[in-house]
Amino acid sequence: MCGIIGVTGEPDALPLILGALHQLEYRGYDSAGVALVAGGEIWRARAADGTHSVADLAALTADAPRGHAAAIGHTRWATHGHPTPENAHPHVDCTGRLALIHNGIIENHSALRADLVANGHTMTSATDTEVMVHLIERFMAEGSDLTAATRRMLGSVRGAFSIAVICADEPDTIVAARRSTPLVLGLRDGTAFLASDIPALIGHTREVYALADDELAVLTPGHLHVTTLEGAPVIPEQLTITWDLEAAQKGGFPDYMSKEMDEQPLAVATTLLDRRGAGGELILDELRISADELRRIDKVFIVACGSSYHAAAVAKYALEHWVKLPTEVDIASEFRYRDPVIGDRTLCVGVSQSGETLDTSEAMREASRLGAKVLVVSNVVDSSMARHADGVLYTRAGPEVGVASTKCHLAQIVALEILGLFLAQIHGTLTAPEIGEILNAMDELPALMTRTLSRRREVDEVASKLTDARDFFFLGRHVGYPVALEGALKLKELAYLRAEGYAAGELKHGPIALIEPGVVVVGIATRNPLWEKMLSNIAEVHSRGATVVLVADDGDEEAAAVADHVLWVPPTSPLLSPVIGVIPLQQLAYRLARLHGHDPDRPRNLAKTVTVE
Ligand code: M6R
Repeated sequence: MCGIIGVTGEPDALPLILGALHQLEYRGYDSAGVALVAGGEIWRARAADGTHSVADLAALTADAPRGHAAAIGHTRWATHGHPTPENAHPHVDCTGRLALIHNGIIENHSALRADLVANGHTMTSATDTEVMVHLIERFMAEGSDLTAATRRMLGSVRGAFSIAVICADEPDTIVAARRSTPLVLGLRDGTAFLASDIPALIGHTREVYALADDELAVLTPGHLHVTTLEGAPVIPEQLTITWDLEAAQKGGFPDYMSKEMDEQPLAVATTLLDRRGAGGELILDELRISADELRRIDKVFIVACGSSYHAAAVAKYALEHWVKLPTEVDIASEFRYRDPVIGDRTLCVGVSQSGETLDTSEAMREASRLGAKVLVVSNVVDSSMARHADGVLYTRAGPEVGVASTKCHLAQIVALEILGLFLAQIHGTLTAPEIGEILNAMDELPALMTRTLSRRREVDEVASKLTDARDFFFLGRHVGYPVALEGALKLKELAYLRAEGYAAGELKHGPIALIEPGVVVVGIATRNPLWEKMLSNIAEVHSRGATVVLVADDGDEEAAAVADHVLWVPPTSPLLSPVIGVIPLQQLAYRLARLHGHDPDRPRNLAKTVTVE
């Protein structure tokens, strides 16, 4: 999973390329590189410094030639080959006259590599990508021009790709193509752009087009020529860009994660906006699936990865309670390889902030193949999942750059619960006044979230007492259980501490053996139907010496009595409480990451969007 950018028609494209690579770092940042055509040659620089590769690359390009033609840049999250400068993109052919960048995986690279090496090509990296540039070299040596050779190369490879390739012999041209991974194109006056996604182009152009699977684009200054891989002309789909550059920057916060946590009330408020008709009924205009189709639904699957999966797990409780439909939640990478029982009356909901996560998009493809109606909850307008689904419901959280999902996770919970209420309205399982009452409670959430966020210093104080701890259990029951899973994930990915999320009632079936002095138990003890049982489970771990931190409703002295530290939150109704309860856990993970010296925006080994299996 990588970020790619290309530009032709700019006399000095390097600053633009480097700026775009900064915008794309959330796709991966273990190495970065750039190549451009100048003076009839390819000039290239690459850096691989774990978390600061783009900054290192900027230093390496200080003496790059100016007045160049086409240029391409890449920020990498390694799959094949270690994150070293040799494995960083762009890759060049044996002659050094071609350079190529790639996002995705070439599955048949070993056989292709063996064949190329046997025919005299010299490989200089351990990547799957490099075979592509050597294949283009082979086909150009046989007489094809850059475009035709790229087409022939794509006929030989198997797998997922967004690519861009430049050639010293065609200095103003970039040839790009995609299959299964994203690629957008842009135009402005005499310039043409390509990028793996929209934020890299914000600030340069708002005329943006989506390249579809198995399409190829030839970019020349001010022109885009799009065809199928076979060469049939295509008119690319123009996308609507509503974000501005300011929205994608840090806005005065020390890091994206702090900024995005602070934006959570707004993200939820915006996701709730304009959902009620004149008569108070719930309206979901963008859904694209009719009420009649939804009335036929007799089963719901919600499928996602990571934090999006935890949002789905909260929604299960709400949907089963409100809609009375069997609702299964599943991890996308498991769902797509088992035999889920799905028919044409199943609604399959894919939840993905990015709308590009490969596991989730492939799971949706499978659900569609099995006959389900597919609905996607995504934050990115016109993301590939959003475009391919039968219907879409957008979270309106704005761009989320921090690798750890915060505002999008909470907006997902709210969006899925809105969907639950909409289904309840259609299926007649809740009355209009009941739905109105829940929506009124939802409208209160942004204010409660702001109040919760304002208690950051109290969370910091608790965190400062836990700096020696290495083992954490996060426990919850009912909707507190997915909150516990999310709290544990945040702590793992940000502070690199061992953290298990458990259903509290399950602890006595084994894991309680791990409880001893020094272990920290973080319990979600806000009032839900299982609150009393939750306190009993907490008493069990407290008596075995664990340090207990509880998330509890303001003034709940019974909960405080079994805790060493309390993270107080304002109460709300149980099914909405995760939107509040997750916040102190995000803050706890953030503070512990900082106390351990880790940058929350750059967790090791991670990337924002996972477009590989
Ligand atoms: O873009 P998606 O919502 O599909 O991403 C899913 C997960 O990769 C994501 O939530 C991941 O778990 C985050 N790092 C969690 O903070």
